[in-house]
Amino acid sequence: MDDREQDKPVALEAYELMAEEYNKRVPTKDYNAFLERPATLSLLPDIKSKHVLDAGCGPAIYAEIFLNRGAKVTAIDVSPKMIHFAKERLGNHATIRQANLEEPLDFLSDKTVDLVFSSLVLDYVKDWDSLFAEFSRILRDDGYFIFSTEHPFSKFTYKDHPRCEVLPKNYFETEYVEFTWTGFGKAILVPSYRRPLGTFFECLHTAGFCVEKLIEPRPTEDFKRQNPDGYQKASRNPSFLCIRARKTL
Ligand SMILES: C[S@@+](CC[C@H](N)C(=O)[O-])C[C@H]1O[C@@H](n2cnc3c(N)ncnc32)[C@H](O)[C@@H]1O
Repeated sequence: MDDREQDKPVALEAYELMAEEYNKRVPTKDYNAFLERPATLSLLPDIKSKHVLDAGCGPAIYAEIFLNRGAKVTAIDVSPKMIHFAKERLGNHATIRQANLEEPLDFLSDKTVDLVFSSLVLDYVKDWDSLFAEFSRILRDDGYFIFSTEHPFSKFTYKDHPRCEVLPKNYFETEYVEFTWTGFGKAILVPSYRRPLGTFFECLHTAGFCVEKLIEPRPTEDFKRQNPDGYQKASRNPSFLCIRARKTL
């Protein structure tokens, strides 16, 4: 189904279906634990006593790391099941609430957050201009915005993949695509948006962010031990982009 036919968040149903297996598998899953996560974590500044918003926290694997580093954490996600697992993992050590990133973050006041963090979530939000404006509003001056996404080039090559159900057609457009995932238990259709690399920088610039660092992560040795064949593929093809930006307005 194309997103124009529905009002609800595009990936809500997929993540409700996936939540339980995601919670079980993601702590040690090769592409997350040994590829995306080490790279994204390497972008973190010192967050001791800082207020971190984990936007699209899922089962709160990252939020738990932030708590262990001494941060004050607000964790939000649109999926009630993901929120359930986040509460199970974090207890009452963080503020956890269900929220849709496609809507204003009214529960957060201006300039009250030191770091907005969002790992593998922004692929499910079409309107980055509105969302990034909200992130800029809640961030203190000089605040950090750190995020990871699927790599825009890897997503464009989905068109050659047998499990790509709605194909990307034009690299230069932000496009609705659908892909069947099999890495978290049963096959689940995951809709998302694919956008060109230039759009990343345009949206960040418009919202008053400048990019400090960009990483195209490579798999670690632990990835190789866990999945030697997958390691060969992940060593040669782009999977994710990890970006640290700074509020400059
Ligand atoms: C791939 S998971 C990433 C979870 C977590 N950040 C991590 O890296 O383990 C994507 C998450 O984005 C959430 N999500 C998708 N669309 C969202 C939206 N519109 N608002 C808030 N969360 C959303 C999903 O429910 C899911 O928990």
